[in-house]
Amino acid sequence: TLPVYLDCDTGIDDALALAYLMAQPEADVRGIGTVSGNTDSGTAARNTLDLLALLGHDDVPVAVGEHDFLAAPYAGGAPHVHGANGIGGVQLAPADRQVEAESAAEMLVSLARASAGTLRVIAIGPLTNLARALELEPRLPGMVHSVTVMGGAALAPGNVTAVAEANIANDPEAAHAVLTAGWPVNLVPLDVTMAHLLEEPHRQRLAESERPAAQVLASMLGHYFEFYRDIFGRGCSAMHDPLAVAIALGSVVAESAPRVPVVVDTSDGPGRGQTVCDLRGKYRGYEDRRGATCRVVLRVDADFCEHLTLSLTE
Ligand code: BDR
Ligand code: CA
Repeated sequence: TLPVYLDCDTGIDDALALAYLMAQPEADVRGIGTVSGNTDSGTAARNTLDLLALLGHDDVPVAVGEHDFLAAPYAGGAPHVHGANGIGGVQLAPADRQVEAESAAEMLVSLARASAGTLRVIAIGPLTNLARALELEPRLPGMVHSVTVMGGAALAPGNVTAVAEANIANDPEAAHAVLTAGWPVNLVPLDVTMAHLLEEPHRQRLAESERPAAQVLASMLGHYFEFYRDIFGRGCSAMHDPLAVAIALGSVVAESAPRVPVVVDTSDGPGRGQTVCDLRGKYRGYEDRRGATCRVVLRVDADFCEHLTLSLTE
């Protein structure tokens, strides 16, 4: 089995990612930490506990992470995208348990210490908790299997500014620390996630499934589809976070790419939050550069949304 720590800002596509992760028999989810992003970290934790109860996984510990970002306070999330409660206004049955006493950063450090280099860290929200964990345990980069981050835009436009993607834009200082920490990173940017759109027929299959969790996810998606209608001219939605989970587990094959250096613009200019990916690594002579630790996933050829829909309805 593959030990996993998930860090999320639950979130509609985070909810789908969580359901997908829990459905993978090879994943051994040791803990989940929440961070502010789509909603605040406390609400994200509540959403996560309630979703886990719905999915029949009340045994997975959940820790609340950072409420504020390294250099700025949390400023209200993305209610226009994810609804006021983060999950499209859907009311879940409240789980009958509480969050852990430790913080998300503490949970990540203790899971890494206990798993002898095998822990897969999957981050699908702002990277504040991971940055705090690096402060708590500077040897953390040598203690995990890999870090898969949904975030950034390499050649594609951003979704918050012309160049910045939401998870990175929320906390560029944290993102810079995490992407340059030296651990092996799989970066799953908008370049690839915007190419995997869940369409209305997929949503219908979730809605008509006999699985209650699939029905609930279908109603959350109703809200998300309206946001994407403005972008694509039809109701659909990009599967950012589920795709990152699949890549972390090796369930879909990403185009093989060399590891390259990625830094984040933390200036106050128009480039703030940009992931500057040095993709020259694909040319001879640019290999083996210092800081070349990030595999930037630009393409996945599989029909990921079909695979996702099957996983959630079977
Ligand atoms: C990312 O930002 C959040 O809104 C989504 O959950 C996803 O993690 C996409 O830019
Ligand atoms: Ca997210």
